[in-house]
Amino acid sequence: MSGKPLLVTCGLPYTNGPCHIGHLRTYVPADFYVRYMRRSGEEVAFICGSDNHGTPIVISAEQEGSTPRALSERYHEHFYDTFRRMDVVFDHFGMTDDSMNHETTRSVVQRLIDNGYVYEKTVSQSYCPQCERFLPDRYVEGVCPHCGAIARGDECDQGCGQHLEPGELRDAVCKICGSKAEYRKQEHYFFRLSAFRDFLLDYLPTLRGTATARNYALGWVKDGLRDWCITRTLDWGVKFPGRDDLVVYVWVDAPIGYISFTKEWANAVGVDWKDYWCGDTTRVTHFIGGDIIYHHCIFWPALLKGAGYGLPHAVVASGMVTIDGKKFSKSRGYVVWTNDDYLDQGLPADYLRYYLLSYTSHTKELDFSWKVYAERVNNEIVGTLGNFIYRTMYFAEKEFSGVPDVAPQPGIIEEIERSLAAIDARMRDYDFKGAVDGMMSLASFGNAYIQNNAPWKLIKEDQAAAKQVIADCLQMVKALTVVFQPLMPGSMQRAWTMLGYDDDLAAHPIAEATAPIGARALGKPVPLFKKIEKEQVEALEKVMEARVAKAGEAAGAKAPTVSIDEFSKLDIRIARVVAAEPIDGSKKLYKLILDVGGEKRQVVSGIAQFYTPEDLVGREVAVVVNLAPAKIFGVESRGMILAAGDEASLLVPLRPVSPGTKVR
Ligand code: MSP
Ligand code: ZN
Repeated sequence: MSGKPLLVTCGLPYTNGPCHIGHLRTYVPADFYVRYMRRSGEEVAFICGSDNHGTPIVISAEQEGSTPRALSERYHEHFYDTFRRMDVVFDHFGMTDDSMNHETTRSVVQRLIDNGYVYEKTVSQSYCPQCERFLPDRYVEGVCPHCGAIARGDECDQGCGQHLEPGELRDAVCKICGSKAEYRKQEHYFFRLSAFRDFLLDYLPTLRGTATARNYALGWVKDGLRDWCITRTLDWGVKFPGRDDLVVYVWVDAPIGYISFTKEWANAVGVDWKDYWCGDTTRVTHFIGGDIIYHHCIFWPALLKGAGYGLPHAVVASGMVTIDGKKFSKSRGYVVWTNDDYLDQGLPADYLRYYLLSYTSHTKELDFSWKVYAERVNNEIVGTLGNFIYRTMYFAEKEFSGVPDVAPQPGIIEEIERSLAAIDARMRDYDFKGAVDGMMSLASFGNAYIQNNAPWKLIKEDQAAAKQVIADCLQMVKALTVVFQPLMPGSMQRAWTMLGYDDDLAAHPIAEATAPIGARALGKPVPLFKKIEKEQVEALEKVMEARVAKAGEAAGAKAPTVSIDEFSKLDIRIARVVAAEPIDGSKKLYKLILDVGGEKRQVVSGIAQFYTPEDLVGREVAVVVNLAPAKIFGVESRGMILAAGDEASLLVPLRPVSPGTKVR
């Protein structure tokens, strides 16, 4: 182990929307790791902050009639509070828009310029003639040149995931007004990322963290590196040195935020930030989601190298979170909000922390569903861990009025030591699921031990033997409390108090798991955890279903803009219903004969549940007459009558017009 202190950071949340459980897969494992390392004797700084720049934040602020700064401050507070509620506790949580980061970014960029890694180049940028502005990044939407998916200006977010440079997007459309974008020449600044190929090929194999991050990055480097345009035509952001009309790309000043926040924290506590960020070796460890590996393993080390800073020691990248097997999507309703949907429902932070860390390996995709959540909580947290702790304490209190004055058997201590060693190896390998499974195994071992030895029976025959069993179990309870604390800090502090301690568990090293408890009074034993009932699961599922349904409706309502030319292609006319009859075998369909001004038309319409034939005959309705003919239930249909809503309210003319009149 090097003498350097450990610095752990998390991907900075954007300040344009609330915290969801996808975010938490970055923050909860990082907090778990930090707590564990501290309690293993490491000095750790845990640094994060909010990411305030970039176009989505400007767009969101414009939409709500606020400013990007005000919006950022609001969500900054929101994330800070939400993290607290989840027991994710940073030493410092800064803002990328604060002056420290403006200064640090400008000085890093200046160093890159001085070192010859930045050059000027004229590029064609998408520009909206209607809005009279350039359209950086998310102001523009179009087709990915690599895979053909719909993409944003800087990233193919729904397709191949590749980073896009300004001007690369095809068929670009302005996101503000929907006009076709044109391309205009503009001068921008580029970072010579391609110059770092050999450096990255040497560096990446030495990068610690998850193998996924390292291997993806190596693959991308081998595929070839392109220089990055690092300026944007925007007011909001960090001004590019010497240019008041340009700001740096958000992915420049965001990671530099890690350094700025370390400086802010170091200044406040009186240590030197350079101990963390400078020199040949650092212990900077970045926790991120798998969506931002490129930025952290390629772009960021190259920036640091080019500006003469130390390099990250590890990048720990999680798999993405999905909801009920669907990709996270706020617009489609597949999202679980940390506050509204979880904490505000009275659900404990510790259960979600457990789920996020134990559901699957850290690098795999993690699916969230309320059903599985309830199963895991009920079987593992309540059924195994909680059950063992409660049974042991309850029995100790009832029969011995506390912890008996008997040392645990050596075999028990050895079992605990084996567990601790396995857990420790997993933690240092960033295998958090492996570590949590190791913890749960110790709880299962304890459960089996108390079950097999049945001290409640034993006590009737052999009081001393029962006492020994309980002393063994209590030692395991202590070990579990100590070792589970980084994962479930709130619950384990309560367990600690129940064990008769009155201090902060976090101050005790993990190694104390095997230290004898010694005779002592216990607190009143109460169950630590509560099952999630079936009704609650159903209620939680309903919230999600309703949201998905509502999002579906909203998506239907939000049709793309059409021009007047496109609209006029539709030939809609008023027609009189001449005849209406049911179609054999269908409850929903009528065959209608319409008089469209001298011409008779047969149209099939799904309104049979809402009208009798008598309701319809003689009425005037609106019909699209140039719809391509189709066969419905074997019956030819040449047109479509117009109706609104779930009960097919027909559109009828308010004043009389003759059949065949065009609707315009
Ligand atoms: N602002 C950037 C990070 C800049 S770091 C210099 C960003 N912000 S974010 O708000 O979109 O995401 C914050 C963190 O949450 C990132 O680590 C990101 O990978 C993670 N996740 C956001 N949504 C996620 C899922 N659905 N699943 C897993 N992690 C995800 O990215
Ligand atoms: Zn693509």
